[in-house]
Amino acid sequence: MRDLTESNVTEAVLDKIADDTNPRLKEIMTALIRHTHDFVREVNLSSDELLYAARFIQNVGQISDDKREEGVLLGDVLGITALCEILGDRVRVGATESSLLGPFYREGAPAREMGADISHGDETGEPAYIHGKVVDSDGNPIEGVILDLWQTTPNMFYEAQVGQPDPYEDYAYRAKFKTGADGRYWFLSRKPVDYPVPTDGPVGLILDGTGRHSWRPAHLHYLVYKDGYQTIQTELFNSDSQYLDSDAVFGVKQSLVVPYTLNDDPAEAARHGFTGPFYEGHYDFVMKDDASVVDAEKAYSQRASMSS
Ligand code: BEZ
Ligand code: FE
Repeated sequence: MRDLTESNVTEAVLDKIADDTNPRLKEIMTALIRHTHDFVREVNLSSDELLYAARFIQNVGQISDDKREEGVLLGDVLGITALCEILGDRVRVGATESSLLGPFYREGAPAREMGADISHGDETGEPAYIHGKVVDSDGNPIEGVILDLWQTTPNMFYEAQVGQPDPYEDYAYRAKFKTGADGRYWFLSRKPVDYPVPTDGPVGLILDGTGRHSWRPAHLHYLVYKDGYQTIQTELFNSDSQYLDSDAVFGVKQSLVVPYTLNDDPAEAARHGFTGPFYEGHYDFVMKDDASVVDAEKAYSQRASMSS
């Protein structure tokens, strides 16, 4: 028997991986073991620090439930989620770029009539008319695309979020719209606002301890899908947000930044059912065809629920 040393302990652990292990699992576990051992050597991690880290991870699990995914948030603030999306964009070249799903996606948003007000008549915040179209790589409109979208209420919380100070109707600020033959979509809402990620759990300790703020630039989340096309999971960010360059979870890409222009034409306002000036946001989504995508909605909901 050989004593374990600082340099041979890594190989000793790697040798334990059975030859018939699933190849992808083997690849991931091998790299995980190598990198974490290198990390421990690099920072000369003490046993007390390791215990602290273990308890931190336990706390991440304990505070999580069906409305709060602290583990997802941990990956987000460490930039790991953003990195995965950036890597994924290598196979999505030519389509609208992706961004984080975030922990507040809810399955089951109601299908609404094109043009509906997703705020359910909320009179707080700033009125907004949001529109655009969905096209393929050649610029042709795509019919029958679902846009499943969600945003915070004007008081900076998602409608079902723990801590939401005012009661909002279930699924307010969430909706599914389906494009017609012209590929267009349009709806009414309130202009998205900047908001902080939750800091009352263990992830807040990381932000606090490393002198980071918790703000995200105002945005609207979208899942855009149709069989035969790659699903787009993205966010569109208000161009006037002060946090575009310092998103707490690193989701911003230049191509996803959208101006909201103030429209004070009374006739236009009346046409949308507004009583005064409103903000107008416009964005066209580009989808990349992919014959392997079938049952896109189900595939996506399975993926989303894996993280809960
Ligand atoms: C969000 O956009 O909802 C979000 C994303 C990552 C962490 C927290 C919130
Ligand atoms: Fe969000």
